[in-house]
Amino acid sequence: MPLSAVILAAGLGTRMRSPLPKVLHPVAGRPMVEHIVRQLQALGADIVVVVHHHEQQVRDALAHLNVRFARQSAPRGTGDALDSALPDLPDGGPVIVTAGDTPLLTAASVQRLLDQHVGDATVAAFDAENPTGYGRMVRGVGIVEESACTPAQRQIRTVNSGLYVFEAAYLRRELPRLVPHAPKDELWLTDLITEYSTVVNGFSEAEFLGVNDRAALAVARDRMYDRIAREWAATGVDFASLRVAIDAEVVLQPTASIGHHVVIRGRSNIAGHVGDNCVVVDSQISEGATLMAATHAEGASVASGAKVGPMARLRPGAIIEENVHIGNFVEIKNSRIRKGVKANHLAYIGDAEVGENANVGAGTITCNYDGVRKHRTYIGNGAFIGSNTALVAPVTVGDGAIVGAGSTIAEDVPADAIAVARPPLKVIPNRAARLLAQYRLQKESAS
Ligand code: UD1
Ligand code: MG
Repeated sequence: MPLSAVILAAGLGTRMRSPLPKVLHPVAGRPMVEHIVRQLQALGADIVVVVHHHEQQVRDALAHLNVRFARQSAPRGTGDALDSALPDLPDGGPVIVTAGDTPLLTAASVQRLLDQHVGDATVAAFDAENPTGYGRMVRGVGIVEESACTPAQRQIRTVNSGLYVFEAAYLRRELPRLVPHAPKDELWLTDLITEYSTVVNGFSEAEFLGVNDRAALAVARDRMYDRIAREWAATGVDFASLRVAIDAEVVLQPTASIGHHVVIRGRSNIAGHVGDNCVVVDSQISEGATLMAATHAEGASVASGAKVGPMARLRPGAIIEENVHIGNFVEIKNSRIRKGVKANHLAYIGDAEVGENANVGAGTITCNYDGVRKHRTYIGNGAFIGSNTALVAPVTVGDGAIVGAGSTIAEDVPADAIAVARPPLKVIPNRAARLLAQYRLQKESAS
């Protein structure tokens, strides 16, 4: 029997106070509903997502995931939402139903509920620290929503997680019979759980955290990051601390080691060391490469033996080859830095190619932008660029050439040449003390 699942994601999420539909708020770099989709797909479920508010945005965000969509014509409650998915469900067999705002849901819990499913309807419950906001599990009745609870029922701590398994035939029979609840005339899916339903208790409250506002969203993010770090730690990755933020898409190799408070996002693949407080986005860090503390890398690749930072910035297109040293306050953009290059302090290298073993002195700047266009700079193998050089692109410094400190290089320098472009030094001997004395006299006569 093919397994079906419905994710209810049509609610507006007013309490989020956000222009983004609630279920699209990112948790570890993915829309929260995508986490649920992936967990259910791991069980082989065919998924229907119920949408209404910002329908197109939700469809677009999930377009790559091979799910189907059902449209709820107006958000008239969770029962009505499930009813909207009915035409897309098989005639028989179990149907998993869950909300789109519980991003920490795991396939293991869904499997556990499926394993214990008997009869027409089975619901996952847990004992809440604070049951406020949840439907209460009332013995001999079913689920009583908080708004409908008697004072005694309000005291019940066993609550509805919002995860259910229903027989499709039961849904076809019972969904049309739901009656609306005042004051909003909503149809409640919880009315499908009766005294005859199966209640499976003992699920984790933390896992069923419902994200209804921004604070809960932040808690969900912390928990997801903790889970991701623990999963990578189990594969052999070394963590200085679990207080890191590694997005779901990131891949860590067992050789990776991760410092304190590291953030890694997007399509990053890490096999080397990422030091304390680094931020790494869409970057490849090879085995044996080191990012030292507080380095920011985005769209970059760093090869084995290379050392970058502390406090360096690699921008998109920065290709750092083997054994390169990039030091503090060096910014690299759209440039290939070939093997063995040293750029150890305070430089900007943009739209450039730097040849093997070249040395880029402190304060070197590639002047790559003329106010309208970008131009490229080529620095040859083994070239030496003295400190505080401005390389006015387009420009080439040949292999083995030496550029004197403080030069502004606006023309090509041939290989093996020495180029110095700075005004000649003027020295006036025995004059400094006399000049200061003169200044003092001027100051006294003025006062
Ligand atoms: C619901 C349950 C409550 C349970 C809690 C668990 C009902 C009536 N109550 O309450 O018993 O303890 O979840 O988190 O079901 N949605 C739609 N269309 C609608 C309304 C909601 O698709 O018309 C979706 C929402 O987008 C959301 C999910 O259904 O993903 C749950 O709705 P929400 O309003 O968050 O219900 P809760 O008040 O949390
Ligand atoms: Mg909710």
